[in-house]
Amino acid sequence: MKKHLYNPVFSVISETAEELNIHAYVIGGFVRDIFLGKESKDIDIVTSGDGIELAKRVSAKLRDSHYSFFKNFGTANVKFGDLEIEFVGARKESYRGESRKPDVEPGTLEDDQNRRDFTMNALALSLQKENFGELFDPFGGQKDIEDKIIRTPLNPDITYSDDPLRMMRAVRFSSQHNFIIEENSFLSICRNAERISIVSKERIVDELNKIILSPVPSVGFKLLFDSKLLHLIFPEMVKLHGVEIKDGISHKDNFYHTLQVLDNISKNTDNLWLRWSAILHDIAKPATKRFENNIGWTFHGHEDKGSRMVPKIFTELKLPLNEKMKYVQKLVLLHLRPIVLSKEVVTDSAVRRLLFEAGDDIDDLMTLCEADITSKNDKKVQRYLKNFEIVRQKLKEVEEKDNLRNWQPPVSGEEIMKAFNLQPGREIGIIKNAIREAILDGEIGNNFEAAHKFMLMKGAELGLKAVI
Ligand code: CTP
Repeated sequence: MKKHLYNPVFSVISETAEELNIHAYVIGGFVRDIFLGKESKDIDIVTSGDGIELAKRVSAKLRDSHYSFFKNFGTANVKFGDLEIEFVGARKESYRGESRKPDVEPGTLEDDQNRRDFTMNALALSLQKENFGELFDPFGGQKDIEDKIIRTPLNPDITYSDDPLRMMRAVRFSSQHNFIIEENSFLSICRNAERISIVSKERIVDELNKIILSPVPSVGFKLLFDSKLLHLIFPEMVKLHGVEIKDGISHKDNFYHTLQVLDNISKNTDNLWLRWSAILHDIAKPATKRFENNIGWTFHGHEDKGSRMVPKIFTELKLPLNEKMKYVQKLVLLHLRPIVLSKEVVTDSAVRRLLFEAGDDIDDLMTLCEADITSKNDKKVQRYLKNFEIVRQKLKEVEEKDNLRNWQPPVSGEEIMKAFNLQPGREIGIIKNAIREAILDGEIGNNFEAAHKFMLMKGAELGLKAVI
């Protein structure tokens, strides 16, 4: 075992396994990560014999560790500092009679390695005293890691049909580590893609989010698209694909454009939800596409419709329907605003309105808009970026002056009612809106005195009498 990755708990597990007269191995992701040069805190231990008893005894020896047992899975877990150690007895599948569903029963290390997803995830390190640290690599996983290849230990049709989520995992590992899925394996994914339908949406979206958080997410999305997994798990995104030509005029392929925006933004943020905004920013382009004579292809209102599509997409994908979703909706809705600003003369009033609507998410919105510049014409890109710099500068100036990020009305509804001795009614809303508009247009300052004076004037216009 590489010295710097040796952990003292391995010696404790080794001694305890010897006491119990059983064999124990570190297996799976932890071993793979050693060869990838990554440190992992999740350790899987597989045993020939009772893994649960081993876990219990190991936990008793580790001060301040916490032991738990999961009856349904036949696994036990020991938390020790920042380590999570999972213990399970080696298993094998056996097919009895006519049943196509296998029984799982105790097996050897090799049986257990056979049922794992990829050769790189089937590596095991011995914890036996006599060969402590020896690598058991029956399928050439170490070489596959060196060659950056994802391969299944058995015939891929068997491995993927045992758990179809593994098709998503193959794509995810490929995107995370820039590995190639071995050809037969990829063909098997294409053949078996439909089987993804038996996997829960929660497990699928977990993998999808890991693809989105990978360094160059388009790697994963292209594989999902080419294997047609994307068509099954996220059909709305597939609709972005394709180019239509009319009267010799074409529009860009919005699928590949979206992937480029996603890759661009991923260089600047690890925020999953900002990356989701990039994926969804043009999602309504297919639904709003029109061909207009003398103009060409238009996508009017795609930002508004797209924002309204977000809740349904989040519901279908089992993403959280909370403030994260609202954040994505807001960014999709506003994603054209800075671009419009950067094309026109930037007025204070337009900047104030943008700040007011974006609030604290203004910086993320600018990050999204900059990622949205995907022109191949470098001069154009430079010009847009320069204009965005001007918008950013203006945003800063207006923010410093007017403090609009988390705007609160300087005069409240109650103060308006008191000033004119009013019961709740529509006049209050009219006056409040008028104050807000006047501030955003720069007619009055964003402060109590100016707003109060304006309120009295507006009230008079409405025929109201001030009582204070
Ligand atoms: N495994 C598998 N099939 C699955 C999921 C997991 O064979 N569908 C096996 C693999 O050997 C894997 C191990 O279980 O290495 C642990 O799985 P998990 O903790 O989900 O993932 P890791 O491989 O550790 O990767 P990561 O930590 O990046 O999720």
